[in-house]
Amino acid sequence: MNVDRSAAAFERAKTVTPGGVNSPVRAFLAVGGTPRFIKSARGAYLTDLDGNEYVDLVCSWGPMLLGHAHPEVLAAVAEAAQHGTSFGAPTQAEVDLAAAIIDRTPIDQVRLVNSGTEATLSAIRLARGFTGRDKIIKFAGCYHGHVDSLLASAGSGVATLGIPGTPGVTAGTTADTIVVAYNDRAAVRQAFATYGDQIACLITEGAPGNMGVIEPGAEDGIGFNRFLSDLCHEHGALFISDEVMTGFRVSKSGQYGLDGVGGDLMTFGKVMGGGFPAAAFGGRADIMAHLAPVGSVYQAGTLSGNPVATAAGLATLRLATADVYETVDKTSEQLRAEVHAALEQAGVPHVISHSGNLFSVFFVAPGVTAVPDYTAAQAQQAQAYTAFFHSMLEDGVYLPPSAFEGWFLSAAHDSTALDRIVAALPRAAQAAARAA
Ligand SMILES: Cc1ncc(COP(=O)(O)O)c(C=O)c1O
Repeated sequence: MNVDRSAAAFERAKTVTPGGVNSPVRAFLAVGGTPRFIKSARGAYLTDLDGNEYVDLVCSWGPMLLGHAHPEVLAAVAEAAQHGTSFGAPTQAEVDLAAAIIDRTPIDQVRLVNSGTEATLSAIRLARGFTGRDKIIKFAGCYHGHVDSLLASAGSGVATLGIPGTPGVTAGTTADTIVVAYNDRAAVRQAFATYGDQIACLITEGAPGNMGVIEPGAEDGIGFNRFLSDLCHEHGALFISDEVMTGFRVSKSGQYGLDGVGGDLMTFGKVMGGGFPAAAFGGRADIMAHLAPVGSVYQAGTLSGNPVATAAGLATLRLATADVYETVDKTSEQLRAEVHAALEQAGVPHVISHSGNLFSVFFVAPGVTAVPDYTAAQAQQAQAYTAFFHSMLEDGVYLPPSAFEGWFLSAAHDSTALDRIVAALPRAAQAAARAA
């Protein structure tokens, strides 16, 4: 496969931006090789600068639920742009987008922002302002954007690059962050027993997707999110469900649609922006009433509710009907079965876990049958994933360039796209077997 143009673009990029990328995981550092510079995307496919076409299993890290360049989303964007691209004043479309989010979730009110990072940092600030408490609990391996206080033991790029903590984040900033292991009920109970009346909130991903996908475990018929929500309320703390990744993706109503547990505050991004920079946080009306201009917790944004991004988000949510979720769920189930069969055939130990259609494949040590937390996720045979990844890439399938990420599908991944992925699996599984 010729990647000369991508290689040249990468060299040039490195001279003008650190590592040549605008978000670390794009640099292929964990898997090595040349990051593909993308020229265009349509439906389930990406085309790079050298003209190579790939079935895309990253989907912009989640947003492209409908596939790339969906004609109706493009039409909505073009229509909105005709009327001006930013006003710094309210529009009706923002209200429509807020209403569409409220319609699919248990929250009463929404504030639109530009990125998932902004959504979580604003939600944490609001939780602290509302409760008058300082401490927050997060889970090791969960990623909530590059918010200072949430970078302690974070997933995604922080996990991919093995960064233990981030220089530039002061000890004071993370001093109020308590980190516990995911799915570890005893550890969460202990944290509340020790700091109960100082804890403003616990933040968790709807289902973790940034250390690979981890399933919230059930005990005695009680799901992990329900357990967390109940425990927060016993201690007067807020439960924040970060659905930036799972929201409007793993079901019409995100993880809430799967387990019925909403947050007092919730955060959204990715799908709701339809491929544009739009995100949101929202929650109970009495909590949201503490936000400026009604209340005193300040939060603002020049481009918040941007009309073009709002149009893309509205069109995407309108088009993301029950049929879309049914299709993507079915494709995901088929693909998971095919990946399992190929790896089993090649004798590669693996665990595939999923939340709805979002899934990941852990290349585990022999005998490991479950990956419940970050420690287990970190124990992966990363070299097996690397070999698998490169074989798939050479055969025209673009997987996440890190073992710590989910695989994303879209409604545009039809049987032709699926066949192309399936055809590439045996060779990749054998490569993984040799590397394990
Ligand atoms: C669960 C979760 N929260 C927050 C974020 C941050 O979103 P953004 O990258 O838009 O700042 C991400 C990004 O991957 C995420 O997966």
